Amino acid sequence: MKLQGKVAIITGAGRGIGRGIAEVFAEEGADVAINYIEEPAKAEEVARYVRSKGRRAMTVQADVANRRQVEAMVERVWKELGPVDLLVNNAGIETIVPFLELTDEQWTRLLDVNLRGAWLCSQVLCRHVIPTGRAAAIVNVGSIQAGKILPGRTHYAPSKLAIEALTRNMSAEVTPSKVRVNCVHPGLIDTPMTEWVMKAPDLLPGILAQISMGRAGQPREIGTVVAFLCSDEANYLTGQSLYVDGGWVGK
Ligand SMILES: NC(=O)c1ccc[n+]([C@@H]2O[C@H](COP(=O)([O-])OP(=O)(O)OC[C@H]3O[C@@H](n4cnc5c(N)ncnc54)[C@H](O)[C@@H]3O)[C@@H](O)[C@H]2O)c1
Repeated sequence: MKLQGKVAIITGAGRGIGRGIAEVFAEEGADVAINYIEEPAKAEEVARYVRSKGRRAMTVQADVANRRQVEAMVERVWKELGPVDLLVNNAGIETIVPFLELTDEQWTRLLDVNLRGAWLCSQVLCRHVIPTGRAAAIVNVGSIQAGKILPGRTHYAPSKLAIEALTRNMSAEVTPSKVRVNCVHPGLIDTPMTEWVMKAPDLLPGILAQISMGRAGQPREIGTVVAFLCSDEANYLTGQSLYVDGGWVGK
């Protein structure tokens, strides 16, 4: 098992990709704190799955863009599950709004969650971990849209491209203190976020035609890659961003 005995916080883990990551982490031997902002029953379902694999689980509500809530989350997890070894900054939102119609509020909220949230959770965790001298790993979840142009994403795409710069720069500062930082950029993954695409007969075939594997990915297919990046097998890997997209980019 790749993550035996590790303690992980996964943000936005009540559904979608976060849920897939939590399931794989539990199967690989990790205890998991499932962060959520809404839908507590879904987070509890994920916790039950983790426990069914013989691992400890807790659910913890926090808005990743709120410093006070993030600090309380990390402190609670540390107290209940022990020192945290792994953080996956998965929580994210996507809205599709034409550039000329985008409001200040839409821009700010999206950047706050997708970018500032990853920075904030990482900073709070590193301030706990680094003084202990323990090793840790952080994985940020970006998006294929870091490298692609799709309509109505003048706020979303920059938030995800910036995740790559955040990953590199954070890695340079914290890797000397034994915290590795990497990033995955998922392609089209079948989750509640993309339900509207998966159910759009006029849109889906055109997208799938651009993907070498000709299909959307499943959340657990991101989970297995994130588990590898968090494992000791990736001990010499930091500051990197990996597209996990079935071969969409560059086609
Ligand atoms: N699904 C895809 O095709 C795809 C592709 C590329 C990148 N991504 C990224 O992967 C991540 C997960 O996406 P998904 O498809 O599972 O989406 P999703 O909408 O199904 O799940 C996202 C989860 O994050 C939670 N969340 C939102 N704001 C939060 C906040 N402020 N604090 C805590 N939790 C919050 C939501 O409640 C939800 O449970 C996101 O960062 C998304 O941008 C998804």
